[in-house]
Amino acid sequence: MNKKAAITGVSAYRPEYILTNKEIEQTLDTTDEWIMSRCGVSERRILKDKNKGTAFMAAEAAKSLLDKKGLTPLDIELIIVATVTPEHPYPATANIVADMIGATNAWGFDIQAACSSFLSAVQTASKFIESGTHKKVLVIGSDKMSSIVDYTCRKTSILFGDAAGAVLLEPSIDETGILDAKLYADGSGKKYLYQPAGGSLIPASIESVTNKQHFVQMDGQAVFKVAVIKMADAAEEMMQRNNLLADDIAFLTPHQANKRIIEATANRMGISMDKVMLNIHKYGNTTSATIPLCLVEWEDQLKKGDNIILTTFGAGFTWGAMYVKWSY
Ligand code: UT7
Repeated sequence: MNKKAAITGVSAYRPEYILTNKEIEQTLDTTDEWIMSRCGVSERRILKDKNKGTAFMAAEAAKSLLDKKGLTPLDIELIIVATVTPEHPYPATANIVADMIGATNAWGFDIQAACSSFLSAVQTASKFIESGTHKKVLVIGSDKMSSIVDYTCRKTSILFGDAAGAVLLEPSIDETGILDAKLYADGSGKKYLYQPAGGSLIPASIESVTNKQHFVQMDGQAVFKVAVIKMADAAEEMMQRNNLLADDIAFLTPHQANKRIIEATANRMGISMDKVMLNIHKYGNTTSATIPLCLVEWEDQLKKGDNIILTTFGAGFTWGAMYVKWSY
């Protein structure tokens, strides 16, 4: 039987600049109290350097992960970058990252499934490990959301931040690893959350810039209503498929889009908030980086054999969950 894939290391890059609710209050008609109570964000990191983008953050996360694991870039066979803010439309950010870190033995590509990009990338990577063709795969979730956020819009600018998180996947040597995953997509949700311009339908033009079509457009309430159900559905389904009771679960690792969506998911699963990885107050929604950023910040508390449910929801709509038995 083929080996399962295991997450054997995690690392992250967080830009230094901290954009607080207090600072946002200076320019927009909003308050710290409103932002905290509606979505649970207190501050977010912003990559201020205009000459650095998604690839820089991804490369920093990757380099620190290689250091941590005592690996050289040449050990990596495949790099998958999950992102909605690629360095360029092409080539793939994964290829740029490979060049930046010197991973000349690695092929690579990007995966884009909005906020579900990271879980989609881990699921894809796990298949390369399971098939036996690859033994060391880097999956990096990296997003410079500040490059597509309109900082004059109080509905969206409060939510997002920049960051990158990386995981190493290797063949499992025991019963631990990525044991199950179920991902979903429903493209009819497009109109509620998307970036209208910059693709083939509306290429960049003076009009598209003037009309602010290169920024995130979101009908927050419509997204919230679906997210709060689907993320909980996916997490609950993952428990049922694997005969897991609330007590069997060590941690829930949810995509960090809104604290209220996360609380609703935990509630449906019957698990208490002390088992929920929650850092949205510090980083906001970093899109592809939220889940690996949580794994990094809870790494010290994780024990080999712990049952973890990762769950996500994003534009598309896309959503799903993954069951991981922690490997170290
Ligand atoms: O990761 C991708 C998936 N994304 C999500 O899951 C996001 C899902 N949506 C949400 O998290 C929430 O909808 C938001 C946090 C974005 C907004 O919270 P809400 O409770 O749904 O607020 P709302 O959009 O219904 O707006 C309520 C009111 C409106 O005023 P009126 O029309 O009732 O007078 C807004 O104009 O709050 C107003 N508002 C604000 N007020 C102060 C909207 N943004 C702000 C703001 N500060 N920043």
